[in-house]
Amino acid sequence: MAKIGVDIAEARSSLVSGDLVAIPTETVYGLAANALNEEAVAKIFKAKNRPSFDPLIVHTNSIEKVERFVEAIPEKARLLVSEFWPGPVTILLKKKAIVPDLVTSGLDSVAVRIPSHPLTLELLSQIDFPLAAPSANPFGYVSPTAAEHVEAQLGEKVAYILNGGECRVGVESTIVSFLEGNPRVLRLGGLAVEKIEEVIGSVEVNQHSSSRPTAPGMLKSHYAPGKSIELINDFDWNKEIDFSQIGTIVFNKPLKDIPLENQVILSHTSNLDEAARNLFSALRRLDQEAKIKTILVEFVPNEGLGRAINDRIKRATANKK
Ligand code: TXA
Ligand code: MG
Repeated sequence: MAKIGVDIAEARSSLVSGDLVAIPTETVYGLAANALNEEAVAKIFKAKNRPSFDPLIVHTNSIEKVERFVEAIPEKARLLVSEFWPGPVTILLKKKAIVPDLVTSGLDSVAVRIPSHPLTLELLSQIDFPLAAPSANPFGYVSPTAAEHVEAQLGEKVAYILNGGECRVGVESTIVSFLEGNPRVLRLGGLAVEKIEEVIGSVEVNQHSSSRPTAPGMLKSHYAPGKSIELINDFDWNKEIDFSQIGTIVFNKPLKDIPLENQVILSHTSNLDEAARNLFSALRRLDQEAKIKTILVEFVPNEGLGRAINDRIKRATANKK
């Protein structure tokens, strides 16, 4: 099993040796490697069983460092990141040649982010290379929001897990592309669209797929647990049902008839930030409970982080019964 702890020197030396380290961020845990070392990056794809056509986000800790990896940073992108970095937003820009093709799946653009977590920021300040890091889950599965989630699923495959506790935001970063004229949100995430628009004006939002629909984080069916999962509204309540085998993920109040201990209430106070923080661990918990055979989920109000929550719910329930 991987070592798990808060030893930044150990995490650093594993990364310098070209090994994988799980890192905490405010959104979800990342599976990190030296982004400039192709052999190290290849280990990420292998450990996650991730197809090589799905590009990675590059993480660093200052705008000066970002400028080493990207061509010009447009004014609106600069405005956005000066307001929200370190934080849950990733920007997509034209890449410089120094970024290996493996990181970007051969695209001429690169996704970059300065994450907000004190341990990871300290680690990033102590290395002279950026970290390529997708979410630290097997491909297609729910993203990890605690070190224990990483340990359970990828523990054999990483040299070290930097334990930063539970993720404060709980859904992945919002990805904004500055490749064309207008900024475009490719993935809804931990920074609400409303907040982005307050700073850079109106943006376009891709609803179901990226400009590159082959990128799996944006694929219709993703973030899915292994069990049967469907929307509460689509569930056939007329068939014979064993209520003890049903688990629910509900916004602010439980469903009647279903045992309370089978139900996860995302936020008793209807707070969408709290709901986002709880979503992935709820999916994980119900997926692991042996007696539960079917997971039912409901949408939350479609505003603020609710849009990212609903996006993940749509993907988790797509093509699954
Ligand atoms: O919050 C997050 O963003 C987390 C933490 C660890 O930073 N990372 C994360 O990475 O969610 P990942 O690999 O699970 O999702 C990144 C998404 C992928 O769907 C990928 O297709 C997209 O970003 N992406 C990365 N580079 C891209 C590019 N050059 N063009 C289009 N999409 C890109
Ligand atoms: Mg992911």
